[in-house]
Amino acid sequence: MKLLVTGGAGYIGSVVAARLLGAGHEVVVLDDLSTGHADAVPGGATFVRGTLREAAAEVLTGAGFDAVLHFAAKSLVGESVEKPGLYWDKNLGETLALLDAMRGAGVGRIVFSSTAATYGEPESTPILETDPTRPTNPYGASKLAIDAALTEFARLYGLGAVSLRYFNVAGALLEEGIALGERHTVETHLVPNVLKVALGEREAVQLFGDDYPTPDGTCVRDYIHVVDLAHAHLLALDACAAGAHQIFNLGSGTGYSVHEVVAVCREVTGHAIPAEMRGRRPGDPAVLVASSDRIRSALGWKPERDLHRMVADAWSFATR
Ligand code: UFG
Repeated sequence: MKLLVTGGAGYIGSVVAARLLGAGHEVVVLDDLSTGHADAVPGGATFVRGTLREAAAEVLTGAGFDAVLHFAAKSLVGESVEKPGLYWDKNLGETLALLDAMRGAGVGRIVFSSTAATYGEPESTPILETDPTRPTNPYGASKLAIDAALTEFARLYGLGAVSLRYFNVAGALLEEGIALGERHTVETHLVPNVLKVALGEREAVQLFGDDYPTPDGTCVRDYIHVVDLAHAHLLALDACAAGAHQIFNLGSGTGYSVHEVVAVCREVTGHAIPAEMRGRRPGDPAVLVASSDRIRSALGWKPERDLHRMVADAWSFATR
């Protein structure tokens, strides 16, 4: 298939683009490099630099694309609280420009990066796709609005759409000649921040709260390896059905506490990794664990790489 990957210079988009190329697809990456890296665009993909508003219509029109995988987004929860307008504009506004461009060009399939943040503070665990969606920040709200737009475009224009609601993505893709992983300029995620200590870039990792109602008092999250996540995108692409918008959680279904993640990082790196306990980070729910039953039964997907493998691959990437 001929595929447009928006945000294909970012962490997750670049890994999926590499996997799509590996599966024999033709890939064009569209990325404005606001947070991505040009050298993360996998060899073999065509790279176009630009925003969706500026370039999506131009790239798609008359070019015979079969589908779009849409990763391009602003994705920092804290920044979204400070600049909500930016998140509505870049996430929802630019996605609407993309959807219009797809319609104009007759491209009928999209796989979209949605998020666990659409659910907000869950009432029960594990989280089902049918649970209430009550985002607690503009990042989650803007992604939920895109999900709503996809439902409408499917109903009214016959778009075939799949939203994958990512939980906590970690790990890297390391293969012959390929090394793609997380290297955000502003890093908020737990695993890369813990590994920075083992790399000697920081004295200690700050842990945000141990007074949560969880077994060890730290937050519990559902970690998923970026390569397992990428595999789900390939399955989702085949599952896009005209006129339907399908939503799938994408997590392993297993929760790990912050302390447990740090312990795995110590084991993998052999470094003591000093940790300093701080207060809670505003907006962090105590437990976020996905039910992945729907994607397992509908698409036959299952995670194959555990937390140890995620940390080991992230560490290999960081020390490559
Ligand atoms: N944490 C620390 N120290 C750090 C970084 C994180 O203690 O340096 C803690 C957080 O407080 C949280 C856990 O580690 O309890 C995981 O935090 P991350 O920032 O790695 O991930 P989040 O669960 O906050 O975020 C993920 C996705 C977001 C998404 C969110 C939904 O990365 O995109 O889930 O709530 F919005």
